[in-house]
Amino acid sequence: MNLDFSQIVPYTPFMLKGIWATLEFVIFSIIIGLVLGTLLALCKITKVSFLKWIANAYTSIFRGTPLILQLMIIYYAIPQLTGYDIPIFLSAVLTFGLNSAAYVSEIIRAGIMAVDKGQMEAAEALGVPYRPMMLNIILPQAIKNILPALLNEFITLTKESAIVSTIGYLDLMRRAQIVGADIYRNFEPLLLAGAIYWIMVFILTKIGQAIERRLRQGD
Ligand code: ARG
Repeated sequence: MNLDFSQIVPYTPFMLKGIWATLEFVIFSIIIGLVLGTLLALCKITKVSFLKWIANAYTSIFRGTPLILQLMIIYYAIPQLTGYDIPIFLSAVLTFGLNSAAYVSEIIRAGIMAVDKGQMEAAEALGVPYRPMMLNIILPQAIKNILPALLNEFITLTKESAIVSTIGYLDLMRRAQIVGADIYRNFEPLLLAGAIYWIMVFILTKIGQAIERRLRQGD
């Protein structure tokens, strides 16, 4: 066994900067994913079949191809097609935001569908119009299905974010690789990066559990 953690000490500030580099684009991606995903979910539950078709095709494409391929297409193919040299950060945010929207739209759609049909029927029988029915009766119940799954999606995004290291974005993962190459030891920086990812996911999990507990109190 040949371990020497003292060598990564001078590199810890460099590694720690990776936390923000990672969080920064994950947060932007989550926002894009939430907004676009909600719009797509609305398209999926309308009766307008054209919108439904578009939203389903979108989901099928973004869930049916590897995230790393989508990232490469956006980063390498956009400059080829448009002549615009897309910055790494923008490629990362765009890819993860667009990809997440596909998953978020399914989470929201499924959350709404899971509300008992009788709720909608009862509201209609009582003459409650569509908007208040959705906002005051269906959505408050759907949130209970949606929130835990959304949190799961944020956890996935946080971990998958490591693949932006493949296009040279200086995230936590890339920094660990750079340090490894610099000191000719890979285990120590990778272990440190792993510990940091784990802590980030641990915090998200705790937030998720707290939210779930709050939601259950309402029952
Ligand atoms: N590894 C999967 C892929 O390459 C991750 C997809 C991203 N998942 C997500 N929930 N946004 O397709």
